[in-house]
Amino acid sequence: MAAIEMKNIVKRYGDGFPAVNDISIDVADGEFLILVGPSGCGKSTLLRMIVGLEDITDGDMMIGGKRVNDLAPRDRNLAMVFQNYALYPHLTVYENIAFPLRLAGASDSEVDEKVREASKTLDLDEHLDRKPGNLSGGQRQRVAMGRAIVREAEAFLFDEPLSNLDAKLRGQMRTEISRLQKRLGITTVYVTHDQTEAMTLGDRVAVLKRGILQQLASPRELYENPANLFVAGFIGSPPMNFVPAKVDGDYVELPFGKVRMPSDKIATAQGKGLLIAGIRPEHFEDASVVDSDKLTDETTFDAQVDVVEWLGNEAYAYVPFEAPPEVQEQLTQLEKDLDGESMRTQLVISLDGASRISEGDTATIWVDARKIHLFDPATGDNLTLDAEHAGIVPGAEAAARAEEVGKEQDAVQS
Ligand SMILES: Nc1ncnc2c1ncn2[C@@H]1O[C@H](COP(=O)(O)OP(=O)(O)OP(=O)(O)O)[C@@H](O)[C@H]1O
Ligand SMILES: [Mg+2]
Repeated sequence: MAAIEMKNIVKRYGDGFPAVNDISIDVADGEFLILVGPSGCGKSTLLRMIVGLEDITDGDMMIGGKRVNDLAPRDRNLAMVFQNYALYPHLTVYENIAFPLRLAGASDSEVDEKVREASKTLDLDEHLDRKPGNLSGGQRQRVAMGRAIVREAEAFLFDEPLSNLDAKLRGQMRTEISRLQKRLGITTVYVTHDQTEAMTLGDRVAVLKRGILQQLASPRELYENPANLFVAGFIGSPPMNFVPAKVDGDYVELPFGKVRMPSDKIATAQGKGLLIAGIRPEHFEDASVVDSDKLTDETTFDAQVDVVEWLGNEAYAYVPFEAPPEVQEQLTQLEKDLDGESMRTQLVISLDGASRISEGDTATIWVDARKIHLFDPATGDNLTLDAEHAGIVPGAEAAARAEEVGKEQDAVQS
């Protein structure tokens, strides 16, 4: 096992397009690191540069303290598990796992020892004599991982390994991979564009946008302290609400009314004109089900509820609002960057299942003002960021570079 250090890694494809743009990430020995971001942001490219399937244009790729830029894939001793596991259909599970050992000319007794050890870890003992064609998707995946395990690779690399499984199996496999990675303690880099996988699997998550690292932090830090609008909009489901906001002393003026925020939190956002407030659906509540001691400090407003979806344990209420053009423009761009999936000029509020709010009501809504984020609409930066609990944020310079690349890209396309 080994640590992986990426130092200022750049990948330019033949047409000059920077698919990976100056990315530096240290993966600790035994760490589970996730690369996440919308389609085309450079995740697979970065992973393929770690394994050696793609040339590195610039920067240093270090594995176990050794520079591997010029090493062939087979000399890097990494195990890659793809979306299609490429098992040999005519070989038994046993022989599929044994394959790399046979190739290396290992003795029968060594093969047997290693295959049985891997099969025990993976719960495949009863399937060793079967053929891959008779196994479930999850079992097949475990066989593929068994093959990686017997090689005693320095690290596991996964590229969207669950994307072709159905939702239920994906959930099971997610837990399985997580459990296995912990048991083996093997350094792992895992690519996904699914934010749920990113949040549940990773020790740390690297969020990429157009080949540029936006933030590298634990799932909790990303959720509670997103560095910018992009990360805030990407992490969380249903996504964070974005609404126009103006700061006035300790108050923030939202389309629905004024709310008082903690002075220390709002301090950095003073005198900045029109801002974008980011508030997660679960940081609202029906005021009538909130403890009265929370309601004292001017944190409620009245809103006209348009639609209510009741799910039993909770309900979603929708509240439409108007956004001025400056904010609307930024939100439209954001939707594009995120491979847009939601309408952003309605507020989504998650209510307790006990709430009696129904469609058409004017309801009193409480907002947890400590959890409101304020973003600069021009740069997307989170002005209320608690930098101490935000992991690594490459900084404004990186964000500006992403903008430049975006413009280059638009120019190429038009
Ligand atoms: N062989 C290639 N030649 C030129 N450009 C490429 C090549 N492979 C990828 N790209 C470009 O590099 C960028 C990053 O591609 P990459 O496959 O790394 O994205 P990704 O994040 O893995 O996306 P997805 O989620 O769709 O798999 C894309 O804009 C893509 O068009
Ligand atoms: Mg990919």
